[in-house]
Amino acid sequence: MKLFIDSGNIKDIERLADIGIIDGVTTNPTLLSKEPGDYRDNLKKICSIVKGPVSGEVTATDFAGMIQQGRDIAKIDQYMVVKVPLTRDGIKACKTLAGEGIKVNVTLCFSPAQALLAAKAGASFVSPFVGRLDDVGTDGMQLIREIVDIFRNYDFPTEILVASCRHPIHVIDAARLGADIATCPPGVIDALFNHPLTNIGLEKFLKDWPSALSH
Ligand code: G3P
Repeated sequence: MKLFIDSGNIKDIERLADIGIIDGVTTNPTLLSKEPGDYRDNLKKICSIVKGPVSGEVTATDFAGMIQQGRDIAKIDQYMVVKVPLTRDGIKACKTLAGEGIKVNVTLCFSPAQALLAAKAGASFVSPFVGRLDDVGTDGMQLIREIVDIFRNYDFPTEILVASCRHPIHVIDAARLGADIATCPPGVIDALFNHPLTNIGLEKFLKDWPSALSH
């Protein structure tokens, strides 16, 4: 399964990309609004760091505006992916942009029906938001289960990009279900590494090792 960082923060992206386990980045207007500087420059820098799919979202809500903004976003870098919301205009824009060879990530997906429409429109990625469903008492991973079941029946070009991940269990469950990608905030990615028994075991190995050298 591929692992993306859900952030616009260059320092966090550099830090985690340096480890060698990051395959891409997703941003959204809220994430980019937190970062200083021109968002285009930031997206270009992120592309140079990760050298993988980097999603930048349109803010227009009408088809014509989405197309104009989408083409501008695609021009930022060869790695840019255009994010559009799962609305009628968003799906129509996805179909048009994909037809021009531009990779599209259809975001704000909350139902299997919506995911099916994104795939039919030729999206490269569809982003079901599991955390926000959990936040309102709905089982977010059930949505992933249903999308995986549907997509298995067809040779859609669309990768399931599990988004709005709140903790490592979302990543593990996404992988167990066969989703293509999980995109996580830096803190969730950091949490994937952590287990107290690893720290305890390493500490003991290092504590015991000197006696091996004194034989
Ligand atoms: O960026 C898309 C998605 O991952 C954001 O999710 O719920 O953490 O804002 P959320």
